[in-house]
Amino acid sequence: MDEAVKKYLNELKELGIEYQILEHPQLISVEKVQEYLGYRMDDAGATLLMKTDDKFVAIIKRGDTKLDNEKIKKYLGVKNLRMATEEEFEKITHVPSGAATVFIKGVPIYLDKKILEKEYINAGSGSLLITLRYKTDDFKKIPGIKIVDFTKIETDKEDLGKVIKGGKRILSGITPSGDGSLHIGNYLGAVRQFKELAKNNECFLFVADIHALTTVQSREELQKNIEILIINELALLGELSNITFFRQSDVPMHTELQSILNNVTPLGLIKRAHAYKDKLQKGLTEEEMNMGLFCYPILMAADILIYKPDIVPVGQDQKQHLEITRDIAENFNKTYRKKVFPLPESHIPKEVAVIMGTDGKRKMSKSLGNIISIFDDEAIIKKQVMSTYTDPTRKHAIDPGHIEGNMVFTYLDFFGKKKRVEELKSLYRVGKVGDVEVKNFLLKTLIKYFAPARERYQELKSNPQKVRKILMEGSERAREVASTTMVEVREAVGLTNKYSFFEY
Ligand code: ADP
Ligand code: TRP
Repeated sequence: MDEAVKKYLNELKELGIEYQILEHPQLISVEKVQEYLGYRMDDAGATLLMKTDDKFVAIIKRGDTKLDNEKIKKYLGVKNLRMATEEEFEKITHVPSGAATVFIKGVPIYLDKKILEKEYINAGSGSLLITLRYKTDDFKKIPGIKIVDFTKIETDKEDLGKVIKGGKRILSGITPSGDGSLHIGNYLGAVRQFKELAKNNECFLFVADIHALTTVQSREELQKNIEILIINELALLGELSNITFFRQSDVPMHTELQSILNNVTPLGLIKRAHAYKDKLQKGLTEEEMNMGLFCYPILMAADILIYKPDIVPVGQDQKQHLEITRDIAENFNKTYRKKVFPLPESHIPKEVAVIMGTDGKRKMSKSLGNIISIFDDEAIIKKQVMSTYTDPTRKHAIDPGHIEGNMVFTYLDFFGKKKRVEELKSLYRVGKVGDVEVKNFLLKTLIKYFAPARERYQELKSNPQKVRKILMEGSERAREVASTTMVEVREAVGLTNKYSFFEY
């Protein structure tokens, strides 16, 4: 840990400000750090250094809020207000841009009150490798701090937690880049909401197998991953009415459209993509980066735009890709003066944006080994449930226990019968039920909840003909829509002329 950070931590201690140290790889954007640590943007705080008429001020705001410049100018009684430049920032704070500490010595500090709506906030430490988790109430101990109302919630176009009324076209895809098996985090974050949406919307869901080529370059591995993902998804979805389920490589128009979209995509736009920047940050050189990886957002834009969906439900990590998709669509429409592509909106339901893993610390992810699987043997699921993080302060079953941050109850809230879960919570709080008992209840609940899907899984696995038929029908319908769009695209860009004969 470098000296500047140590010094800052000492200052925090002197002020009586508590913190927990969270380490991560070098990530620049707050979004990426939060995603890595398994938090949302409203769990993040950032200190912004601003220049007014004649001096600098610092404002602590929550990650999901936007500064209201007019409000700030009025409050401070100034005419001019702008963000400090990177140079000004580094000169005043002595830390790299992106790593601001919560308070900056010698600079008047303002705390936006929305920060205080949260009990804990992750914010800067002076290092790009460390984020500190603060108790927000402690911020009041910062000398001279003023509590203000300077922000509004940033809703963008995507609108977290928006209710989709029905009658829309919905599209999403999952890449078979892991081993293809889904865990309860994938189920809650992706599959479940899709099932819900399919009740009264037209849905397209595909296995993004061509995307997986960017990272999976073993033939056998890819074949297996795709097969597993297909069966996992189909088993979880069950009923397929209103859902067109297919694999990307069965609809070659995706890649054709990508080739065309390449030409309305500025290089700079793709260079700004987090996925690419993060890979560079992690030390991947340009020699090692393949063009598939680099151009991933353009193929993703093609995947989406070809179906002209209204809404694209995705995880928080895909939000930027959706923004790029909208930019590409706008560029196309502008270049060819025709509104071929309506701009799709992303949909990121707030309560399931990130499901935390069994370690209670980071988002549930196969690569972190903190998952609860759905289709594994019961013995494996039992092991995963039994090792789930509960309440570390509780030594004996008769000690009062905490529910908040206790992953067993977090999962029970999603899968358990409400009445029984509330009963268990009450008993747990007063030390009348043990960890083992609630874990056994969670195991029983999960097995029961996923029993129909587990049954379908076995059935599909032993019936490849049935799976192939579903994929054939799905891809037929998908090709129908995709080719209609492609006819329009060929026409709009001028590929169609008096010698044309090609038909999809
Ligand atoms: P993993 O992180 O386990 O490799 P993927 O990145 O393949 O999972 O994600 C597949 C889908 O599941 C995506 O839509 C993603 O947003 C969602 N997802 C993955 N992990 C979680 C999680 N912990 N909480 C909520 N959704 C998740
Ligand atoms: N990039 C997405 C992911 O990694 C998968 C994906 C590919 C996708 N194409 C898409 C999602 C189109 C939604 C729409 O999770």
